[in-house]
Amino acid sequence: MIVTIFNAILVILITWLSYRYFELRERVTPAEERYLHLMSGVSSIIDRIEGYEIAHAAEIAVVAEKIAVAAGMDPDQIESLKVAAMLHDIGESLLPRDILRIPQKLDEEKIFLMRTHPLLGELHLKKHVDGHDEVPSIIRWHHERWDGMGYPDNLKAEEIPLAARVLAIADAVSAMSHNRLYRDRQYENACEIALEIEKNAGTQFDPALAKIWVQMNNPQDNGRVS
Ligand SMILES: [Fe+2]
Ligand SMILES: [Fe+2]
Repeated sequence: MIVTIFNAILVILITWLSYRYFELRERVTPAEERYLHLMSGVSSIIDRIEGYEIAHAAEIAVVAEKIAVAAGMDPDQIESLKVAAMLHDIGESLLPRDILRIPQKLDEEKIFLMRTHPLLGELHLKKHVDGHDEVPSIIRWHHERWDGMGYPDNLKAEEIPLAARVLAIADAVSAMSHNRLYRDRQYENACEIALEIEKNAGTQFDPALAKIWVQMNNPQDNGRVS
């Protein structure tokens, strides 16, 4: 009986202390950092919807920031890029759940539906954010390809905004690093992934940005990407 009362008091005390800790942390954390924490929370929900068991969107934000800094993007652009990275697949949350949970490759009709997710994400965000915010546009173009074979607009080369080109490489790096529902991880390490990025430079990816990522991850290959 005494042990039960003691346990109950202990649980109440721990709950109260945790509550006080988060309340205090909220007060001392700068607004920008709190905003990014909130974004991470939202992005982790999108990751679960997509079937990732890792923090895919947060990982993309880290990779994208590294490339963006090396490419000389300005701090404001980098902030928008990081938010776009965390929300890049938010449009998938508006698609039927069974499409996202199919453990094999999708048929043509389902591929068509999946390919609407950049537009859905952009439109949905645009309804709620200020017209000058570039995050929805970056999301719209995160599946465009350097050779013009991407979607939804078949933009080519520098027609694709720089931030969206960075995001495309970061997304591919993270996707290649982990298992998906419909396939196992195909690459063992960062070096193999960098070689795949190098192979697709100038077709799928911006060659200059691809070169930055290859040099960061495979120093012996410096200069091999044209
Ligand atoms: Fe996507
Ligand atoms: Fe993704």
